[in-house]
Amino acid sequence: MAIKLKTLCAGVMGAVLLGSMAAQAAEVEVLHYWTSGGEAKAAAELKKIVEAKGNTWKDFAVAGGAGENAMTVLKARVVSGNPPTAAQIKGPTIQEWGAEGSLGNLDAVAKANNWDGLLPTVVANVMKYQGHYVAVPVNVHRVNWMWANPEVFKKAGATVPKTWDEFVVAADKIQKAGFIPVAHGGQPWQDFTVFESVVLGVGGHAFYKKALVDLDPASLNSPTMVKSFEMLRTVHKYIDKDSANRDWNLATAMVINGKAAMQFMGDWAKGEFTVAGKKPGKDYICAPAPGTADAFTFNIDSLAVFEPKSADAKKGQDDLAAAVMGVPFQEVFNLNKGSIPARQGMDLSKFDDCAKESAKDFSATAKTGGLVPSIAHGMAVPGATAGAMQDVVTQFFNGNSLTPKQAAEKLAAAAKVK
Ligand code: BGC
Repeated sequence: MAIKLKTLCAGVMGAVLLGSMAAQAAEVEVLHYWTSGGEAKAAAELKKIVEAKGNTWKDFAVAGGAGENAMTVLKARVVSGNPPTAAQIKGPTIQEWGAEGSLGNLDAVAKANNWDGLLPTVVANVMKYQGHYVAVPVNVHRVNWMWANPEVFKKAGATVPKTWDEFVVAADKIQKAGFIPVAHGGQPWQDFTVFESVVLGVGGHAFYKKALVDLDPASLNSPTMVKSFEMLRTVHKYIDKDSANRDWNLATAMVINGKAAMQFMGDWAKGEFTVAGKKPGKDYICAPAPGTADAFTFNIDSLAVFEPKSADAKKGQDDLAAAVMGVPFQEVFNLNKGSIPARQGMDLSKFDDCAKESAKDFSATAKTGGLVPSIAHGMAVPGATAGAMQDVVTQFFNGNSLTPKQAAEKLAAAAKVK
């Protein structure tokens, strides 16, 4: 009740303010966590479009893959009554902020620019709270990718695997040849990212959806989930002993430099290959993670706006949102970020084959049921639930305290956390 009352007052005051002031150039402060080589280049494009409208960019970058640090800092800022203009908030978390009464409204700019017509329904739905646009999408990332170094595969006499069984055959050869089969970092979200691709490949997309999106207890605690944990343990055999605390982009660098053969990571990893001047098909291979060619785990980056405190702030938000959905930004941002545009009907001729495959698979899997939200990247279930499940996966992956069967049982229990 307290929150609602506060929201109502702020809304009325906001309307009075907005009505009585002519908008000027605004300071646009955007919270994000795009700090790796490829990410920073993409973020620089965001700064450019803000400045192109005469507004001032205020960078609010909080380093830390997958944004866990950024979300902690954001909460503190909002609680102290000083939210940024916009923040990179995704998936069901947008609904959580909406329910707090903290978000602004982008309906006018969305209507004027036909967002309903330009966005796939699956994307538009995530951007709305109670039917109103509160966020604007910058891209669509695919999580179920494998990034491979063809030279390393060649030297080891191994073939890029299409199933998890083939993965074991290839990884053994690579290890014998003196390379690290799997480049992996040391943060729970990275373990969870590999886990979701393993579940998708071992169980198929219908199983993934039942277990990790619908949180069906019988699927979570099932023989297929036990098999997935067994395969996850096998993957662990092929990472190096120095992975603790390693950032994801340093793991990508190991594939780029030929120290390691492959990495299971979303296509923000492609941004690192691009920054290093590497070409897909020649210097590196992008392939769906084993057993997942008919599926697409989506992860949509988006900027949610907070309730503006002045007409200038509102103008800054609307300018930002309109430009983000514009063709030039959707192209240049995604060329750098490794993702594909969220906006439909774009000319993809400047994009590489990995992006083209991603776009093709995004449309194809939307028709077959293979298009599923990524649980590791905050798209599938509420934050608290995902966090509890991630803890189980990380505990299992980084020690021997749980058997695969115990891990499946614990995962089913963690899925009840709200
Ligand atoms: C975000 C990406 C980001 C990646 C690594 C993902 O959750 O969606 O934008 O590049 O984490 O930080």
